[in-house]
Amino acid sequence: MKNFPYILTISSEKGGVGKTTLATNLAIYLKAMHENLPVTVMSFDNHFTVDRMFELKGQSIRGTVQDMLTGTPGSELLHSGQYGINYIPSSNSLAELYQQFKGPMALCRMMAESGISGIVVLDTRPDLNILTQNALYAADRVLIPVKDMPSLENCKHIFALFDQRGIDKKSLSLIPCLIDSRIKYDGLFKDQRTLLRAFAINRGYRCMDIFISKSPKVESLNTNPEGKIYPILTHARGTEVHNQFVELARDVLTGYHQTAEPRAFLYHQWLTEQEDKKKGAFLARLEGILPHCVICGARHEGHEGTTAKGFYFESSDRVARGFLHSDCLARMLCCALYDVSPESETFELSLKVIRENARVSVAVLLPHAAEDDRQSLRFIQLDPSGGLLLERFISLDGFTEGQLDGIRDGLFLLLNETLLGYDSRLRNGWLAIHPVNEEQPELILQEVPYRRVQEFHRLVADTAVNGTI
Ligand SMILES: Nc1ncnc2c1ncn2[C@@H]1O[C@H](COP(=O)(O)OP(=O)(O)OP(=O)(O)O)[C@@H](O)[C@H]1O
Ligand SMILES: [Mg+2]
Repeated sequence: MKNFPYILTISSEKGGVGKTTLATNLAIYLKAMHENLPVTVMSFDNHFTVDRMFELKGQSIRGTVQDMLTGTPGSELLHSGQYGINYIPSSNSLAELYQQFKGPMALCRMMAESGISGIVVLDTRPDLNILTQNALYAADRVLIPVKDMPSLENCKHIFALFDQRGIDKKSLSLIPCLIDSRIKYDGLFKDQRTLLRAFAINRGYRCMDIFISKSPKVESLNTNPEGKIYPILTHARGTEVHNQFVELARDVLTGYHQTAEPRAFLYHQWLTEQEDKKKGAFLARLEGILPHCVICGARHEGHEGTTAKGFYFESSDRVARGFLHSDCLARMLCCALYDVSPESETFELSLKVIRENARVSVAVLLPHAAEDDRQSLRFIQLDPSGGLLLERFISLDGFTEGQLDGIRDGLFLLLNETLLGYDSRLRNGWLAIHPVNEEQPELILQEVPYRRVQEFHRLVADTAVNGTI
């Protein structure tokens, strides 16, 4: 059974509101209160607080969050740290990733494929850069610390991000932090916390009853001669903040236990469905593919011949689809385009040129009936962007009567199985022949390459068929 983490993101655009203190200490309380629960911390900021707090003495570092964000599975980057916490070391080169990061849902996918279990606590930078957005969208729960009116004002951007993507905002909640209980007001809102809470609720934000007080003891935990950062649990147990963290951790654990299917799991499920759909579409495309090479007639399956499937053909109405042997197509083109018989001296030389050209172009066969009812074929070769490389007109005299002349036989056989309509005449359509990877010819029918085939066919319909090339 795969592991899927429950993600808790701590985010606020405002700096110095207590995000990192909250993320790191909450992780410690979660672990302390649920010993068997794997708890992982990582930060998308570059201040290395996580490392200073959790790194074991002499520990060798096997990678950082940057590696995780560029594709290494998270579980391979977990470092066992102090207080039983796993952490992924921080990096100071995350800004380089902003440009290339693949959209706001990439982290959700990484978490779904990370192999990490338990709770992951994500600390973010005080801005809404692409990594913070990812951390928000991947989260099962987001805690937004607010300490004053400006930090409360800033919350609207996070809520707007969720609105933009139509994501349920119930995972978002504000938590008053750095609350100075000495500050008292006259009137309805008697203190800082009540005031912030009232304003938050008035704006439609969910705000927790739990809050974190400002404490000189807590503030002193990262100022000491050892340059370490001490946890509240071990070094500030006597404070009000300790009890508040216990309460908060309990609340987070309740949420964790109530979440049977974290977002990472749901994303994994969605990805699996997409993969199944893709597989289904691929199999559907394989269906109806002609089982043989329509030039030589040999079946592809179990065909021990020397020539591989080298080309994929498809008629404009998709009625005829299949693969051609590389050699069959090259020989057919050599005869029909240059009007030479396989016995002629120049044949092998022409064949070499034709082979090379065919591998880098798409051939399009467009039958044409003249006013006197005589059929001919316009043959064009196009480069991958649809540019005209070669054009030839080939007489189809004798096709309807089934006359073979030793030169156009291959072409007649191909047309016969792909574009034949009523009365032994060619129907109103055309045939495109694409080079394929000889090792894995069916790859062309997978989603992305096949989409390119379809786009190319639309281009052919727009240009070659209506006469602009
Ligand atoms: N409960 C608290 N009582 C007193 N001081 C605190 C408390 N929580 C955090 N601090 C102090 O406030 C400062 C800012 O805290 P912290 O670094 O956690 O905020 P932040 O939101 O992560 O900041 P940044 O946005 O710069 O990353 C730190 O000096 C920290 O020690
Ligand atoms: Mg911080």
